[in-house]
Amino acid sequence: MGGCAFLKGGASHPQYALAAGQQQDATLRLPVSQMAFPPDGVLLVEPSGSPKVLVRKTLEGTYEVATAKCTHWGCIVAWDADKKCWSCPCHGSRFAPDGKVLEGPASDPLPIPQHRMEGGLLVIELQRA
Ligand code: FES
Repeated sequence: MGGCAFLKGGASHPQYALAAGQQQDATLRLPVSQMAFPPDGVLLVEPSGSPKVLVRKTLEGTYEVATAKCTHWGCIVAWDADKKCWSCPCHGSRFAPDGKVLEGPASDPLPIPQHRMEGGLLVIELQRA
C-alpha cells in the first residue's frame, strides 16, 4: 500500500497515442510491433468514447488487455509482476489477468475487453463509456 500520492488516480503508465484510423467506433486495431512497451510491458490507451484500457506485452510476447480503472473507486491499476495480477495502488485490490477479484475492497471484476490478434494487429473490442 502506498501513501497519499496514489490517491490522485493510481498508477501511471506511458500512454500510446492512437493514430488516425486505429479506432473505428468501438474497435481498436493496434500495430503492436510498432508500440514502445516499457519494461513492465504496460501501455495506457485512451480511446474516445470508451474507458481507458491497459495493453500488456507479456514476457512470452503475447498481449493482454484490461480496463484501466479499478472497480472500487476508479484508480488506475498496475501490473504486479511478482504476483502476476493487476493491482490497485489506492486501496490494494488485486485482479487476476482474466479480471476476477483476488482481493478487495473491490467486489466487481475488472472488465476485460474482448481482444484477438489479426495478423500483426491487436484488435480490441471496447465497451462504451
Ligand atoms: S480504487 Fe482501487 S482499491 Fe480502491
